[in-house]
Amino acid sequence: MAQYHAIGGTATATHKPVSAEHKKRSLFTWAFFATLGSFLFGYDTGVVSGAILFVRQDFHLNAFMQGAVVSVLLLSAAATAPFAGDVADRFGRRQTLVATGVIFTIGLLMAALAPDVWVLLLARLILGAGVGAASAIVPVYLSEISPAKIRGLLTSCHQLMVTIGLLVSYIVDLAFSGSGNWRMMFGVGVIASVAMALGMAGSAESPAWLATHGRVEDAKNVLRKLYPESEVDGVVKSFGKAAPKSEKRKSYKDLWKSPVIRPALVIGVGLAALQQLSGINTIMYYAPTIMEKTGLNASNSLWYSIIIGVVNLLMTLVALKLTDTLGRRPLLIASASLMLIATIPLGLAFTALHGTTSSIAALCSIAVYIMAFAIGLGPIFWTLNSEIYPPEVRAEAASLGTMVNWLANFLVSQTFLPMSNGIGQGETFWVFGALCLVTLIFILKKVPETKGKTYPEIEKAIQQHA
Ligand code: BGC
Repeated sequence: MAQYHAIGGTATATHKPVSAEHKKRSLFTWAFFATLGSFLFGYDTGVVSGAILFVRQDFHLNAFMQGAVVSVLLLSAAATAPFAGDVADRFGRRQTLVATGVIFTIGLLMAALAPDVWVLLLARLILGAGVGAASAIVPVYLSEISPAKIRGLLTSCHQLMVTIGLLVSYIVDLAFSGSGNWRMMFGVGVIASVAMALGMAGSAESPAWLATHGRVEDAKNVLRKLYPESEVDGVVKSFGKAAPKSEKRKSYKDLWKSPVIRPALVIGVGLAALQQLSGINTIMYYAPTIMEKTGLNASNSLWYSIIIGVVNLLMTLVALKLTDTLGRRPLLIASASLMLIATIPLGLAFTALHGTTSSIAALCSIAVYIMAFAIGLGPIFWTLNSEIYPPEVRAEAASLGTMVNWLANFLVSQTFLPMSNGIGQGETFWVFGALCLVTLIFILKKVPETKGKTYPEIEKAIQQHA
């Protein structure tokens, strides 16, 4: 089967030889432009936390309207993901990603220029569509252009760029917080969205999509830019046969009925929900409020976000290194176990501890919890969701998991504050601890190792594990 180390192989006389260096450059250039979508996913979900402080003054927003500006993006992302999957299976991954870059550009410009809160809400709705499409399609595109041996690394670049987007958004928020210029906070993102649209227009279509849409020669031409000539035929075969035209669209019910796809859906959709239900965005979205409850000064709130962003980014880099060597399963098991352990002192910080001890316990356990998420559940959910389905229905099936991920995100971010006020902050973290335990059991029971495997091998591993 295809091996990445062999990328420098020679091409036959009929095709211009492409050097190993050049092949690597093509792969990473296409991946870079696609992951600008991931960057904008992070940027658009993060930027609002700083911007809302000034938007609420300018537009005189009450708590409900502030919440609406923040969370309309999550619902819109959930609603758009399945639609994007459908479009990407019909018209191709590349076209869908070009359109996603355009959608981001429109949303960011509208947000930056919004004359009132209604236009801003519409802009956030449009940005949600971009975020939904990017989160559903970017990992699939990365997975399909990547040689099996480095697929974990390449698909984890999605999460890496999400974390970079989050961190950059906090820094931009900080940079403009002095002047209170929330319009620029949104506007800066346009640089990335325009680059994404233009860059994807010049990138290659996914070879798996081309092959399963009857364009085998086009698929081979793309593969020649990535693999040695001797491996091209084998890789095309691993994509499977082109689906007959009449069979191309399947409903979710059809997918569920298929004995091949159902066990994969259980893994993809189950992990999608648990990635959120284990509570990561309670910290990502509410860190300043949480820290304030331990007695720390909330006026440093943007700095807390930046520190969390840096920890998240650095540990995602570690995951990138390990996912193709240690494997997905050990990282996921370590991740859920450590998250579970971290919630115990985190809960104690609000129930049994006081003063400085409470602040230190909260800070340290939040750090461990974020690190644990970043080495496993963060990147690996997206990796698995993009590699466990057959190519002909991959974007559609992956987008179902993506939709569930955004819905669960909405549920957690809407219930966290009321739940903390109702049963107590510490007790709330223990509820998330219990959900980390459910996540751990789910991983142990349901998730097989997929590292280095081609799709047919992954399918076999899932069937054996089911
Ligand atoms: C999750 C986001 C989260 C981010 C934090 C992503 O994998 O889907 O909800 O905010 O990781 O890094």
